[in-house]
Amino acid sequence: MAKKPISLTVDGVSYTDDVEPRTLLVQYLREQLGKTGTLVGCDTTNCGACTVHLDGRSIKSCTMFAVQADGHDVTTIEGVAAADGTLHPMQQAFHECHALQCGFCTPGMIMQAIDVATEHPDADEATVRENLEGNLCRCTGYQNIVKAVQAGAREMAGGTSGDTEAGAA
Ligand code: FES
Ligand code: FES
Repeated sequence: MAKKPISLTVDGVSYTDDVEPRTLLVQYLREQLGKTGTLVGCDTTNCGACTVHLDGRSIKSCTMFAVQADGHDVTTIEGVAAADGTLHPMQQAFHECHALQCGFCTPGMIMQAIDVATEHPDADEATVRENLEGNLCRCTGYQNIVKAVQAGAREMAGGTSGDTEAGAA
């Protein structure tokens, strides 16, 4: 199949590449750019492990072709920490709240959580749970994930992280 040229920005770096029209964005990120922090859990738009940001909003990168990202700005989990290695507030909140076990869902969870926090800085538990419904975790029971998203959202909004003690899973 004839390849198509695409130009896009990923984690602040500009790339121009040739991709097959059938190449999924997640395949491009992982296999062509080596961004293996973005995971594939299902390939059918169910699990959210592949969540990245496209122009600042979360999308499932297994649901999009790489050619559709042409001209756009993509951020992966590998692009959210500061240049000096300081974790993004949402990464820090997941760490402090023990919001992960195996970690497979975590990159996608965090990308979705950042999007939720941006849209709903004061999100209550119900809002967080509703907005995480497209991201599945097989380990944690969600309780600490929800706490982390709320703590991270407060931190992103410039407040204090408040009670980030881990609760029952
Ligand atoms: S791999 Fe994309 S939603 Fe599961
Ligand atoms: S921490 Fe294992 S799938 Fe979520």
